[in-house]
Amino acid sequence: MPQAVAELDDIQGLLKTGYGPLTEASNLVLWVRDPGLARAWLATFRPTTMGDLARTRVAIARHLAVSAPGLSALGLPDTVLERFSPEFVGGMAADPARSRRLGDVGANAPARWAWGQAGLEPHLLLMLFALPGGLPALLAETRTPAFEAAFEALELPTAPLDGREPFGFVDGLSQPVVDWDAERRPDTSEDLDYGNLISAGEFLLGYPNEYGLVTRSPATEDADLGRNGTYLVFRQLHQDVEGFWNFVNANGGLPLAEAMVGRKLDGEPLARTGERPIRGVGPKQSDIDFNGYDFESDVDGLRCPITGHVRRANPRTGDQPGGNLGIIRKLAGMLGLGIERRPDTIASSRYHRLLRRGRKYGAGADTGLHFICLGASIARQFEFVQGAWLDSAKFGGLSGEQDPLLGSRQPHPAGHATDAFRWPQRAGPCRTLEGLPQFVTVRGGAYFFLPGVKALRYLAAL
Ligand code: HEM
Repeated sequence: MPQAVAELDDIQGLLKTGYGPLTEASNLVLWVRDPGLARAWLATFRPTTMGDLARTRVAIARHLAVSAPGLSALGLPDTVLERFSPEFVGGMAADPARSRRLGDVGANAPARWAWGQAGLEPHLLLMLFALPGGLPALLAETRTPAFEAAFEALELPTAPLDGREPFGFVDGLSQPVVDWDAERRPDTSEDLDYGNLISAGEFLLGYPNEYGLVTRSPATEDADLGRNGTYLVFRQLHQDVEGFWNFVNANGGLPLAEAMVGRKLDGEPLARTGERPIRGVGPKQSDIDFNGYDFESDVDGLRCPITGHVRRANPRTGDQPGGNLGIIRKLAGMLGLGIERRPDTIASSRYHRLLRRGRKYGAGADTGLHFICLGASIARQFEFVQGAWLDSAKFGGLSGEQDPLLGSRQPHPAGHATDAFRWPQRAGPCRTLEGLPQFVTVRGGAYFFLPGVKALRYLAAL
């Protein structure tokens, strides 16, 4: 029986919020210089917890995540490390097959990254957030001599949060709503419809997920290191803003850019139904306006192209061709009579939701996204979305195209091209644009684990 998430003082607050009012933030990737000093510093570190957020309105926030090499550097034995998920232990950059699946080829190849290459992975990720004007003091207070003696730090600052990503689109609109109160009962007929309320176990180890199962947690005889923690994926994605708008302006202008994203510049979705309520969307009208849609009335992608970024990243009902079934046909399907659509236990978007916590960085030519997402399974969430949906040249019955924003444009190993964009027109034939340039380039990245407070204490005491 699912239980409400109650151990709020053990859970880092990043699971609850992206800290909109704390517009200043910086990410420090750290390498342990001295394990003893690193553990001593860790013993003094207190992350902002969900308990803090429930009690007060915070003016600053601090979060700490650890990579697999980081756990080793802090002294965690290999026998325990191996209980974490294989993709976390293996790392983002070390396996050429993983790099191919993630689209980390060509200009995205890890060998070209500024940080995070195989063998040089950072050990920890320290994330700091502050109200306007508060970040310099928070950084100064953090980077004490004891901190500098313990770690070598690479600071990756973010740009002040203004709700837009560098291409100019409103960002951070669609997020899954976590079922903190254990209201969800997965695997009932309501799963035949798209829903936005997602089991807590999809984002937190130790709780039932969308399969009704609890993700394997790395535990020792005396501590469960996974409980109340989650995996964190960090990718530094450089954006060629000038190249993007040059291409867009030469080929169709703003409507083309909006078709590539699947939303208008101000966030309004291109696909709209609004015919029935969606579980986990609302009650605020702005949530309904910006997320109260699925693709059932746009199966052919005439309003929002099937390949549009938001549709690839979360196909909502797009993976269930045939549209929403009436109750009679649904029941007939559940009884095995005249099935036109079955609940899909792999492709349904509820198994592949991401809590996005990234922010933009830089300005001018050196700008992009510090893409950060949280999930209880890196393989089933981030890697599936990135590899099977965004990077795939065969997504949704298409061929020869990848995500129009993110594609590496490298030919696939089988030889076929990936650099087209088919732009359906509501009147007249589909327009095909070929030779899309690469707009987004991976500059660094790593897999981390965002532990609960007790697990952090355990690591400090190793
Ligand atoms: C520089 C790179 C990227 C840019 C410029 C970008 C931009 C955007 C924009 C403008 C939106 C619509 C606003 C919103 O719903 O919040 C969006 C949504 C989204 N993006 Fe990205 N994105 C990038 C990379 C990624 C990556 C790497 C992933 C996952 C691996 C991803 C996953 C998503 C998801 C899941 C959504 C929400 C879709 C939905 O639920 O409707 N994005 N992105």
